[in-house]
Amino acid sequence: MNHLNYYIFAHALHVVAVVIWIGGVAFVTTVLLPSLKKLGNSTNKITLFEQLESRFSFQAKITTLLTGLSGFYMLDVIHAWDHYQQLQFWWIPLMTFIWFLFTLVLFVLEPLFLHRWFHQQAEKNSSKALALIYNFHKILLFLSLLAVMGAAAGAHGFNLTR
Ligand code: HEM
Repeated sequence: MNHLNYYIFAHALHVVAVVIWIGGVAFVTTVLLPSLKKLGNSTNKITLFEQLESRFSFQAKITTLLTGLSGFYMLDVIHAWDHYQQLQFWWIPLMTFIWFLFTLVLFVLEPLFLHRWFHQQAEKNSSKALALIYNFHKILLFLSLLAVMGAAAGAHGFNLTR
């Protein structure tokens, strides 16, 4: 395989990883969390949420890794590191910011204290804890979809500054 083929492969892998990852975030935000909210104030719903989310969290770790590796590889191959300083490529820092946030939460904050903290909050008031998680997911989903729109449009010539 020559360099162009590696690039094309990295691009395809990037898109597949993003589809699984952000698709999962969309499912949790628009289907799972609103359904759990309707279950009333029982502690069972928190157990259910934690079980489902822990499976997704494993998937998200793999897809976040693949997205980051393929993304940085592509930037390097096309010598595009300076795109971070050009306004027309605003979607590149946005993609990287989303990736950084998820990486921080999944690999650092959650194992260190977030999981324990959420569990404590949920024992005090499960509805309040779930509402907090729900709001957080809505913001993340909005930013992620903005990054997907920006990347898909920007990579094919859309330029806000023209
Ligand atoms: C470390 C983080 C990331 C880096 C370095 C990165 C970098 C890149 C690069 C270089 C491209 C190719 C652009 C081109 O062909 O001109 C790309 C494409 C893309 N990225 Fe990312 N990305 C990252 C994270 C993300 C995230 C978190 C998302 C989604 C929320 C995302 C969504 C996309 C999409 C949808 C495309 C395909 C655009 C298209 O060809 O239509 N990326 N990314």
